[in-house]
Amino acid sequence: MNSKNIKQWVLLAGICLALLSSCNKQPEKALAPGEIWPDNNGMHINAHGGGILHHNNTFYWYGEHKIEGEIGNTAQVGVHVYSSKNLYDWVDEGIALKVDEDEKSDIARGCILERPKVIFNKKTGKFVMWFHLELKDMGYDAARSGVAVAEKPEGPFTFIRSMRPNAGHWPVNVQDYHLKPVHDSIKPTYCGGKGCLPAHPDTLNLLGRDYTNGQMARDMNLFVDDDGTAYHIYSSEDNSTLHISQLTDDYLSHSGKFARFFADRYMEAPAIFKTSGGTYYLIASDCTGWAPNAARSARAKSIWGPWEELGNPSIGPDADLTFHSQSTYVLPVPGEQDKFIYMGDRWKPENPIDGRYIWLPIQLKNGYFEIEWKDNWNVNSAWKNN
Ligand code: DGJ
Repeated sequence: MNSKNIKQWVLLAGICLALLSSCNKQPEKALAPGEIWPDNNGMHINAHGGGILHHNNTFYWYGEHKIEGEIGNTAQVGVHVYSSKNLYDWVDEGIALKVDEDEKSDIARGCILERPKVIFNKKTGKFVMWFHLELKDMGYDAARSGVAVAEKPEGPFTFIRSMRPNAGHWPVNVQDYHLKPVHDSIKPTYCGGKGCLPAHPDTLNLLGRDYTNGQMARDMNLFVDDDGTAYHIYSSEDNSTLHISQLTDDYLSHSGKFARFFADRYMEAPAIFKTSGGTYYLIASDCTGWAPNAARSARAKSIWGPWEELGNPSIGPDADLTFHSQSTYVLPVPGEQDKFIYMGDRWKPENPIDGRYIWLPIQLKNGYFEIEWKDNWNVNSAWKNN
């Protein structure tokens, strides 16, 4: 074979290889917010109001198991858990915490069990789940927190107890007027589509009212700081005010140290994340039931504040409705510096099982953060500074 023929063969082989490798190339995996997200069995993932634990190189996604029809807004099954190695392919690991068939249980089937979150306690080696609990047939009046524990991330979780946090404790930023008697004569002042909301919480002194029996706790999240200290963040004082409460070392109780922020701002769906520079960020929502609204955001140099409220971090079409979603968790991308994923729910209260998941990259920007809509996106290429 002469050198001209050799060159032709090499060229041909190169073209064949390029063609072959392009044919074999797997399409890049993608997250498609708002679409059906099938699990390993082809079923739409059923983990609403959820959060993620990253443990031993595996992601565990815990969320509310919903069923069809409006009854699905109550807990008929429990907390569902899925596992994944890559955030795209999810394996159904079953029900991590089951509702109780005993009518007398705090978590009796038919209660409302929302926004479950799980953290791992390095000292005890246990997995600890907290959730918002409303006792059966009491609507949203109970405003309690539930705690459960497991030996393995998949569960089974054992329910320990429910409570209203911080009974008999004042927040670190209590004001003099909280210590005075409750103003019983003051009635709710704002009555809209959702019923009557209380007057300004400081005028009503809901904090003082609940000092003895514990503070109301509805929408909630957990945050574990770099030093292992865990915090429970929840909408309190009839949703009007956020509380940030330090948990005990075993994560099973409130330590009694807590602070209140954003009084009268009616923030729900709180989620906290922290950058490598030490800034704490908060994303939350307004308080409009299942209907979407414009997200809220804030930042602080210490978890104990002061917290500075920023604006709605959503940008682009439907930003004023947070892309028809409400925050549920912020996931730091493991092994990456300052890459975070917004996790939100697109609720379907008329058929809750069909609720969709809106996950989007969070872009940090000069002391702020932004969330921009994407039809589909990949964790390896989504950040502007990849
Ligand atoms: C808004 C909350 O964010 C949800 O978790 C749920 O409690 C609904 N309200 C109920 O209306």
